[in-house]
Amino acid sequence: MQRPQIWHYGLVAQSWANAAEAGPEGAYYKKLIETSGQPALDLGCGSGRLLLNFLQAGLDVDGCDYSEDMLAVCQERAAKQGLSPRLYAQAMHELDLPRRYRTIFACGVIGLGGEHRLTMQAMQRCHEHLRPGGTFAFNYAVRWNDPPAWLARLPEYRQVKPEGWPASSERQRLADGTELEIAARSLETDPLENVATRQIRVRLWHEGELIKEEVHTQKLDDYTKNELVFMLERAGFGDIRIFGDFSDEPATADHKELIFICRK
Ligand SMILES: C[S@@+](CC[C@H](N)C(=O)[O-])C[C@H]1O[C@@H](n2cnc3c(N)ncnc32)[C@H](O)[C@@H]1O
Repeated sequence: MQRPQIWHYGLVAQSWANAAEAGPEGAYYKKLIETSGQPALDLGCGSGRLLLNFLQAGLDVDGCDYSEDMLAVCQERAAKQGLSPRLYAQAMHELDLPRRYRTIFACGVIGLGGEHRLTMQAMQRCHEHLRPGGTFAFNYAVRWNDPPAWLARLPEYRQVKPEGWPASSERQRLADGTELEIAARSLETDPLENVATRQIRVRLWHEGELIKEEVHTQKLDDYTKNELVFMLERAGFGDIRIFGDFSDEPATADHKELIFICRK
């Protein structure tokens, strides 16, 4: 497989149109750009949740994403805010951009797609796209603090049929008054390849009537901390530091997000 298998298309991309809240990760990556330097690249920028805030703050940041649907949402939101970001539609393992950056960050991107080999290549492409001394940073949500995801690799759970869709699921109101109903489920977990397959179902409702339904499938690759460190070293990175949950605390097993920061 040469393509990441992700679900950020169609109605899923639409569901990111309202994602304006940048959260602790927004403040964290903003500070990182300010201390590590510009220009910066938001790799897997999606709908521009972080990117547009950073541009509003006057930072020089480009965006790149594999999903053209996510980029279209980003472009539309940028235009409404009077911003014109440089956006590129590329897979990170094939990154080939005209600029070289002082900071590259990927928020919620490493671990999507289901191909460890492509993630390794992506790290090499990031190394290539940094100026000497430049910083690469990403967060990775560990599976061991997510009991259903962790248990799903055991034989008794692996062999059961795929989960059904949850009975009640989250709804999101869009600007035009329609509503998106979003549900996700696990299909299978392969502990040999360390890959899980999940599905998302998005339904578009208008005044109680179902207008459209889409189902998309995504693969999630599971890494240990040490595996990610080896991959970064192999891609040429040094000075690798790992923090927990968007703080300055060194990572521990109790953190849900590991933040990797390393230098070219
Ligand atoms: C969970 S969203 C996060 C979006 C954004 N970083 C944020 O924090 O709001 C993940 C994004 O990564 C993108 N993505 C996933 N795999 C990718 C890849 N291999 N190359 C480029 N973009 C990718 C998806 O299209 C999606 O927009």
